[in-house]
Formats: sequence, structure tokens, C-alpha cells
Amino acid sequence: MTTILIFYIIAAKFVYSKFKMAEIKKEEDKITRRRFLDYLLVGSILVTFGAVVGAALNFIYPPKKEGGAEAAEKLEVGPTSDLPEGKAKPVIFENKNVMVIHVKEGFFAVDMKCTHLGCMVEWEEKTLVLKCPCHAAFFDYKGNVISGPAPRALPTYRVEIMSDKIYLVGT
Ligand code: FES
Repeated sequence: MTTILIFYIIAAKFVYSKFKMAEIKKEEDKITRRRFLDYLLVGSILVTFGAVVGAALNFIYPPKKEGGAEAAEKLEVGPTSDLPEGKAKPVIFENKNVMVIHVKEGFFAVDMKCTHLGCMVEWEEKTLVLKCPCHAAFFDYKGNVISGPAPRALPTYRVEIMSDKIYLVGT
């Protein structure tokens, strides 16, 4: 009887100790989960903070173009032989429609967006002027208003000729 009692006591202790260990493990798991959630919370706060600070810095100090701050946008329009005197060629430069013009005085580039209501001007080879098809505004090859309702000149762009090639150069 005593042996059985001792056996029950030992068994009960064993079961109790297993139960206690399971409880401790559960508690450790809880702490681990809690810590994990803490890390997750702190991590997400840091990531959000980093993104906000990064966006703010990007706004305050915009990224430099390749080649440094002085590197202006440059577009090769093509060889000068492709644009004989009297001709003009429309290109996209700095996200704008630009007309590159070759006249006796040299090469010029003007924004094609009419300063009246924004229609695209066209080059007239016969008269060597830019004409707006919408309300008949006329501009010279430098973008100056000749006649019509346009309130101001067309913006111009810098043209460079290097090694018999035409380039548009941003400012
Ligand atoms: Fe060019 Fe009116 S939009 S003249």
C-alpha cells in the first residue's frame, strides 16, 4: 500500500512538474510573442519614420541628375544635314513639344504650345513662320509674336551644334 502511495506521489509530482514546465513554456511563448509584437511595432514605426524623413529630405534636397547638379538635359536632334535651311523638326524635349528650326540666321528651338490657348503651332516653310491653327496666331522663328491673339512669345530652348550634330540643351 505504501509503495502504491509512493508511486502515486511520484507520478503526481512527475505530472505536476510536466504541467508546470508546460505552463512556463506557455509563459515564455507569450513573452516571445509579446516581444515579437513589440519588435514589429518598433520596426514599423522606424520604417514609417524613415519613409517620412526620406520623403522630406527628397523634397528638400531633390536628387541630382546623373553627372552632377550641373548636368543639364541634352537631346541629340540629329545631323545638321537632316535639317536643311527652311525646314523644321518637331521633337520632345524635357517633356515638351519643341520645334527645332533651321533658317538663314541659324538653328533655333521654340516651344510648340501656343501662348494663347495651348494649341500646337506648325511650321510654315513658305513664309518661315510658326502658325497656330486654332486662332491664327503667328510667331517668328525666335518665338516672337507677329500677329494674332497670343499674349506673349513662345518659350525658347538653347541649340548647340557640335560635330555637325544638332543638340538641344536644357538650362
Ligand atoms: Fe493659338 Fe488661339 S490657341 S491662337
